[in-house]
Amino acid sequence: MKVEKNSGPPASVPGPRSRRIHAEEQKVIAPGLQRIALLSELTLTSGRGATVEDADGNRYVDFFAGVAVASLGHSHPHWVSRMEEQIRKISVGSFTTENRLRFLQKLAEVTPGSLDRAQLYSGGAEAVEAAIRLAKSYTKNYEVVGFWGGFHGKTTGVVGLMGDEGKHGWGPLPGGRFLTPYADCYRCPIGLDYPSCGVACAEFARKTIKNATSGAVAAVLIEPMQGTAGNVVPPPEFLPAIRDIAHEAGALLIADEMITGFARTGTMFGVEHSGVVPDIMTTGKGMASGYPVTAVISTDEISRAEPWAKPSGASSSYGGNPLAATAALATLETVLEEKLAERSRDLGAEMKRRLLALQEKYEFIGDVRGVGLLIGVDLVRDRKTKEPLARKVTERIFLECLRRGLLLMGYMPRVRINPPLTVTREEMERGLGVLDEVFAEIARDRSYR
Ligand SMILES: Cc1ncc(COP(=O)(O)O)c(C=O)c1O
Repeated sequence: MKVEKNSGPPASVPGPRSRRIHAEEQKVIAPGLQRIALLSELTLTSGRGATVEDADGNRYVDFFAGVAVASLGHSHPHWVSRMEEQIRKISVGSFTTENRLRFLQKLAEVTPGSLDRAQLYSGGAEAVEAAIRLAKSYTKNYEVVGFWGGFHGKTTGVVGLMGDEGKHGWGPLPGGRFLTPYADCYRCPIGLDYPSCGVACAEFARKTIKNATSGAVAAVLIEPMQGTAGNVVPPPEFLPAIRDIAHEAGALLIADEMITGFARTGTMFGVEHSGVVPDIMTTGKGMASGYPVTAVISTDEISRAEPWAKPSGASSSYGGNPLAATAALATLETVLEEKLAERSRDLGAEMKRRLLALQEKYEFIGDVRGVGLLIGVDLVRDRKTKEPLARKVTERIFLECLRRGLLLMGYMPRVRINPPLTVTREEMERGLGVLDEVFAEIARDRSYR
């Protein structure tokens, strides 16, 4: 990768090499790739920190990070050196390794309360399904309550817990799945205003359990902050209320920290903002900064529940293999060593301030919210009606940002900003500068109207 400074917007983005390789791949890869990969037509060749480079040598500040996966940024030296060392030794198998032991010990030190037993997996949906099986094993109940706007993956066991129209066309869905409104205060699902609402959506959850389920709820499954819905941050009373409601119903609270875990929100886990200790936590993405590792974490008592706890009852082929454990260890070591939670908190606060300043300038910025480096921005045609910006405008924002060297999940009206936690001030400034330029262009020609 070249080391000289990026010199303004590249002439052609994506460049000819990127386009050609992308187009060739399109002939052999099945449809259904992530929208950002399809829209950008990028072929990426390398990355350092929060900057990635494409096949034509164009560089981009990365405010996407593989949807918050690249927590340490790309090719972090400590992560690379640990992985290089491990890959020469052994890569496969479920046997104990020293790195796995060290990772699990360190993990138990940083998880809230007595969540000190973890089982490792390789996919997010897989971990959430395993957490649901654990909750079923412990409670002997079988229903699950999730939230509008929620996302926990696309496998059959969790697709019914997808809180939007993303599941349309995949029915019939498995039974025993119920959804209730999330505290998305900018777009309150029940049309109220915070705080005068008294967090009525939590009360709604109680009624959902009473009126919609058969009274056999094993788990209430919640993201402490909703990622896919647009990096939505609920008010602090919401999660404690949901925990109480889950427990009243004899259910366990599963916090899905796939996105919010490992310093993303300025604390090690998202639940710490509300002081809630869930019964089970699922995590992944930034946990191993790019190697596919996920985890189900619970207490000693809960994790002993059978059949989950029987030999081979909770295992998988790749979960916790030597490479996975090493990637997770290297990541956690770096998160602690480089104090990335504090960094995320401080840089995130700075970034939010800067975005709020942009909101003063541009009337189509309806909302700016976030904790740490998990930031959401709502783009609207009209601040009063909150009608979202049309997709053709948001896709233009995405492509204009890309052309100027910023990779941003700006192709939707609920823009998600989640750069690597190691993003430098300079990279952050550059990215925000591009955003300001693109927004100014949209404001000038009033295309958002
Ligand atoms: C909160 C949450 N849970 C679960 C998942 C599913 O993860 P995977 O795509 O690895 O199955 C995601 C993915 O974005 C997620 O955001």
